[in-house]
Amino acid sequence: MSQVIDADTLRSWLDEGRPVTVLDIRTDEERAQWSIPGSLHVNAYQALRSGEPGLLTNFSVPLDRPVVTVCNTGRVSQTAADLLAGRGLEARSLAGGMKAWSLAWNVAEVTLPDPSVRVIQVRRTGKGCLSYLIASNGEAAVIDPSVSADVYRDLANRHGWHIRYVLETHVHADHLSRARPLAELTGARLLLPSETRVTFPFTALVDRARITVGTSTLAACRTPGHTDESTSYVLNDVAVFTGDTLFTNGVGRPDLHADPDVARERARTLFESLTRLSVLRPELLVLPAHAGDPIAFDGRAVSAPMSAVAAWLSEWLSSKSAFVERVVSRLPPTPPNFTQIVELNEAGRFPGHDPTDLEAGANRCAVA
Ligand SMILES: [Fe+2]
Repeated sequence: MSQVIDADTLRSWLDEGRPVTVLDIRTDEERAQWSIPGSLHVNAYQALRSGEPGLLTNFSVPLDRPVVTVCNTGRVSQTAADLLAGRGLEARSLAGGMKAWSLAWNVAEVTLPDPSVRVIQVRRTGKGCLSYLIASNGEAAVIDPSVSADVYRDLANRHGWHIRYVLETHVHADHLSRARPLAELTGARLLLPSETRVTFPFTALVDRARITVGTSTLAACRTPGHTDESTSYVLNDVAVFTGDTLFTNGVGRPDLHADPDVARERARTLFESLTRLSVLRPELLVLPAHAGDPIAFDGRAVSAPMSAVAAWLSEWLSSKSAFVERVVSRLPPTPPNFTQIVELNEAGRFPGHDPTDLEAGANRCAVA
């Protein structure tokens, strides 16, 4: 008989670079939605459900390492693991499947030219959510936390950093914010862009507000468009955290909670915000809140110098009317459950909700 492995253990194995074959047995359509980086794929789902081995019969996997089978919720993958165990392989089924994997994360240190500050990108690999732990002189701040609060606390503790601030770039629509739980867990101050949406206490940041972290400074730069309160944060002269306003290869969508006229108005506002960002120093590293694809356990930060972003963005910004048309004509489908996620983020708590139920599915915050 085969065994099971939980998502956190598989996460650790991939993080440590331990030899393991991850074998995705879902359908082609499910695989196309999202997958575990580096995994192999054999479309055996329907066959296994019917009691047949299907394409798994002749599928060869390396014999010198364990194999972890993966489906949506961890049931059919158990059948696959049993089959492989019957062939003498050390096979395990991923408990909870991709639904449980939704919470898996990894980290990458951002390479910066300023030795007085360190930035660790904490990546929710499946959904592509990017958050940041910024540290200087023993103090730390977290921007846009999207995985469990104890992940940030433990990372900071390991380095001897004290988390003083938790910041958000905007009210998120694709994941449940862990900002309030993290502030409560660590005693940090919760700093949000000034706004009237959330219903819990926070310290409001206006345009050009400055926060001191150790010997470093985060400067708020109001960049509305994706949402009205969207704010970017410039770190010293080295980086800018752009939230869902600007990605390395696309811009934020302006249409959530907006009718077509409002979406156009927001797109015009986004144009102004992007123009403001595009004239920042070309050496600044753009550090967004999302990546388009699942994030590999490669230790390489998702980022781009402003000069590289400006290379494609300048064409987008050559005409405001063309920009608006371009953005509103390329909108992806709205994120699943975004209305409920926004409501919970405005309330600041999600008691009784399993985050993996609400947050399932691919990230759809960008227009590229
Ligand atoms: Fe967003």
